[in-house]
Amino acid sequence: MKILLVGAGGDVGRAIAQTLGETHTILAVGRTSGEYRADLTDDASVAALFRETGPVDAIVSAAGHLHFGPLAEMSAAQFNVGLQDKLLGQVRLALIGQHYLNDGGSITLTSGIVAEEPIAQGVNATAVNSAIEGFVRAAATELRGNRRINVVSPTVLTESLERFAGFFPGFESVPARRAALAYQRSVEGVQTGRVFRVW
Ligand SMILES: NC(=O)c1ccc[n+]([C@@H]2O[C@H](COP(=O)([O-])OP(=O)(O)OC[C@H]3O[C@@H](n4cnc5c(N)ncnc54)[C@H](OP(=O)(O)O)[C@@H]3O)[C@@H](O)[C@H]2O)c1
Repeated sequence: MKILLVGAGGDVGRAIAQTLGETHTILAVGRTSGEYRADLTDDASVAALFRETGPVDAIVSAAGHLHFGPLAEMSAAQFNVGLQDKLLGQVRLALIGQHYLNDGGSITLTSGIVAEEPIAQGVNATAVNSAIEGFVRAAATELRGNRRINVVSPTVLTESLERFAGFFPGFESVPARRAALAYQRSVEGVQTGRVFRVW
């Protein structure tokens, strides 16, 4: 399969590229790194990406920024960071990408454990991750041509623990290669509208 992977240079994306790259062709996309460059927050940039790659068999997103901070100090502008970047960025990828997805192809987005397990300073993350899962459940009912869409919800990765130090007290981390298996299940499997939890 020809698989477009956005966020291929990140902690999650590198593991997906390694796992799926064993048997598929990966088109690695990043904002500032990778074989292809695109910014998920920009319609024109995403449209240009698909014009450059042409049709693909799978679209996988492992990208998206959130705002972490205390509720009492949060502004609407800060909350909007997650809405514009992780939520609308991935939704935009799916909306534009569906028209470049071969019959029988799949879209896989990324949410995260905080959709269901709130953490301190994680209001934006919980709201955004929940919204992504809602988008996927509904979009699965409307995608045409035997196309599928799923979302992977990983807990914190062992490889990312240092970066998120203190945010996940008492959470068990998982190795990135285990999270990558859920993306493989979404891409190579038959299910649609599913949230694949990895924790
Ligand atoms: N790491 C974890 O433990 C963990 C756990 C659960 C969920 N997640 C979720 O998984 C996703 C990836 O996390 P990560 O930790 O792997 O992130 P990361 O290490 O920061 O990497 C992010 C990747 O996404 C790309 N990217 C960022 N913004 C982009 C944009 N606007 N347009 C296109 N590409 C963009 C970056 O490209 P450049 O470097 O080229 O800019 C980079 O390749 C996020 O949604 C995160 O919330 C992560």
